[in-house]
Amino acid sequence: MRFLDIIEKKKTNQELTKEEIQFWIDGVTDGSIPDYQISALLMAILFNGMSEEETATLAEAMMNSGDVIDLSSIPGIKADKHSTGGVGDKTSLALGAMVSACGLKLAKMSGRGLGHTGGTLDKLESIEGFNIFLTEEEFKKQVSEIGLAIIGQTGELVPADKKLYALRDVTATVDAIPLIASSIMSKKLASGSNTILLDVKYGEGAFMHTVEDAKKLATAMISIGNRLGRNTMAMITDMNQPLGNTIGNALEVEEAVETIKGEGPKDFTELCMCAGEIMLMQGNVANTKEEARKMLEEAISSGRAYEKFLQMVEAQGGNVEQIKNTKLLPQSKFVTEMKAKEAGYISNIHSQQLGILAMHLGAGRATKEDPINYAVGLKMNSKKGDKIAQGDLLCTVYHDEELKPEWIEHFYDTFIYSETPVDAIPIVEEILK
Ligand code: URA
Repeated sequence: MRFLDIIEKKKTNQELTKEEIQFWIDGVTDGSIPDYQISALLMAILFNGMSEEETATLAEAMMNSGDVIDLSSIPGIKADKHSTGGVGDKTSLALGAMVSACGLKLAKMSGRGLGHTGGTLDKLESIEGFNIFLTEEEFKKQVSEIGLAIIGQTGELVPADKKLYALRDVTATVDAIPLIASSIMSKKLASGSNTILLDVKYGEGAFMHTVEDAKKLATAMISIGNRLGRNTMAMITDMNQPLGNTIGNALEVEEAVETIKGEGPKDFTELCMCAGEIMLMQGNVANTKEEARKMLEEAISSGRAYEKFLQMVEAQGGNVEQIKNTKLLPQSKFVTEMKAKEAGYISNIHSQQLGILAMHLGAGRATKEDPINYAVGLKMNSKKGDKIAQGDLLCTVYHDEELKPEWIEHFYDTFIYSETPVDAIPIVEEILK
């Protein structure tokens, strides 16, 4: 087989065979196909797309390019969830505790944050001693025993994706839906769970800017999951303002803990409840949405969701005292209240910009090597649709260095006002299966 012929075929918009896709991914993994030829194929895919069958074949070949976790020794259905990333997205922390308190087993491998989006692992590491580096055996043991583990990647999962992503990044081919879908799903498939819930975010702070694009990506990922035997569903959710009230690692842990105690912000609580309903039904723990919601509400009101979170923190070596008293989590040197300079209804909050401002405080990374300051971040006191008078508290900033005038100017630019009332947007736009 000649790789040139495969490029030629995709250039002329023909469907690639399973053997051709396998030949490509083998060549990416063992380095036998040069970067310039891989890049040419990526560009042909960006222009001509891939069928659902080609995309699923690509995801499967990518999954098999490295280690594949086998969770079959753990009894019952193992669930996983994935978010396409957003600002203030601490969902895995609260949702994991909620669904596992209802009897579902969540075996989750998470990632770190980059740019304006945060990462679950960084949030967990703001808890002193929390170990995200479990071995595969330790991971399985913890999921078996307490029904919940959130860790970093073990072994070498999907090496083909690392190579392809690096090339996509420098050849303007990141935003091809079949390539995004196969990249995300190959990693989910290799993590070994039976069910996958995808939280596909749309809006300014999200990877997909419009509902339509988010749906296209979700549909492509669902097709891959279902073709490869995983019960896969997706939620399309709003990322046109930060999720919940906090952005920043320790602040988000605190908010997740409040949420599993029933004291969380409305939008974040609703997102967790909706996600929990779907996951409990996917895992055959509940038969209907209503039954699932009751179970989740009971897990929160009885304190079992909170207990489950404590169990996970303890099992992974974290300091549970910081969860029992969140004031013991890392604290910033300074706390500054930002008061509104204008009056009106908040019609827009530029979430990506707020994510970048939090990153500049030290809560996130501009490059992969940057250190994280767990203590710093933002706590929002106002959301889209709120009526604001001049001087009202908009947001509290937790910081270790003096706020620079440019930072303050950018902060105020993120809030847009209207003279007339603004409808609040529902957090969950649609559920797809
Ligand atoms: N996240 C991924 O893992 N892969 C992509 O291609 C895009 C986002």
